[in-house]
Amino acid sequence: MSLFNKLIVGTLPLIPKFIVGSISKRYIAGERMIDAVRMVRKLNQERFMATIDLLGEHASRREEAIEAADEYVRLIEAIAIEKLDSNVSIKLTHLGLKLDYEFCLANVSRIVAAAKERGNFVRLDMEDSSCTDDTMRMYMTLRRKYWNVGLVFQAYLRRTIRDIRSLIDDGMNINVRLCKGIYNEARTIAYNDKEIINRNFALLLRELFQRGGYVAIATHDEKLVWEAFMLIDEFKLKPEQYEFQMLLGVDAELRRIIRDSGHRLRVYVPYGSQWYAYSARRLKENPQIARYVLNNLLKGS
Ligand code: FDA
Repeated sequence: MSLFNKLIVGTLPLIPKFIVGSISKRYIAGERMIDAVRMVRKLNQERFMATIDLLGEHASRREEAIEAADEYVRLIEAIAIEKLDSNVSIKLTHLGLKLDYEFCLANVSRIVAAAKERGNFVRLDMEDSSCTDDTMRMYMTLRRKYWNVGLVFQAYLRRTIRDIRSLIDDGMNINVRLCKGIYNEARTIAYNDKEIINRNFALLLRELFQRGGYVAIATHDEKLVWEAFMLIDEFKLKPEQYEFQMLLGVDAELRRIIRDSGHRLRVYVPYGSQWYAYSARRLKENPQIARYVLNNLLKGS
């Protein structure tokens, strides 16, 4: 982590909440489900698909995890009623993974079953490396019973190439989102070098395309978008065999460029009252935004 980033991470708790709030508006649909519904309706009108995420992670009480599962079931219902082109993304720690694996599995199964009934799909986001084994295990358990569940792979993890091969060798017809990875991980676990992460991303994408997986290419890095375009062309893929994904509020111009080149693109739309933790994560991740925050602070706005 650069000195500037370390400084930002260290001083983040001192930044007034209203400033974080004003910055976070760009990345978050709002606090309520209706805000997410409105945002997705707008995105759909612009020919973008969506995936909705209820903000939250690391539930510390069972009630919290059950409430999150209830909200997801209501959300799946709302997506169907409003006829939105959107699926949902969930975080296992929000649904009790760190409390009890079986309890979490029951919560997640409830969401996946509700989505199946509505012909919808559930993406299991990938969290830090302490969750990787359990997330893969839960994915495999669910996938045996449900077709409508997918996983995320992180290109910065050294293990990812082995994980992909083992899933495919097991005969899994996989649907994965490939991203770089957002958490701070030790060098023994994850590549730290940006160039290596990018090359590994391209390598994993090739492996997935070669072996017939459905891939959601989740990046705002134009170099990787270019790599993906080349591979899509090389493998002669049809638009329905893959999709691009980007976060709400990040590089809307690139989003339109990808769409207008004939590719499908899904926008990740977070909502919920736990916007502060999510925004803090975004700020830690992206020094440019942190600079923006600092400028605001210095201007006293
Ligand atoms: P990179 O970080 O190099 O960014 C490329 C460009 O985009 C830069 O110019 C940068 O400024 C801009 N940019 C990127 N992120 C930005 C931001 N937040 N705000 C403003 N500008 C930004 N990770 C994970 O570990 N588990 C997961 O489940 C997911 N899920 C997920 C879903 C989707 C749809 C996306 C797009 C991303 C994720 N991620 C994730 C996050 C991912 O791992 C990664 O941290 C970010 O996407 C940033 O990596 P890029 O590939 O965009 O490249």
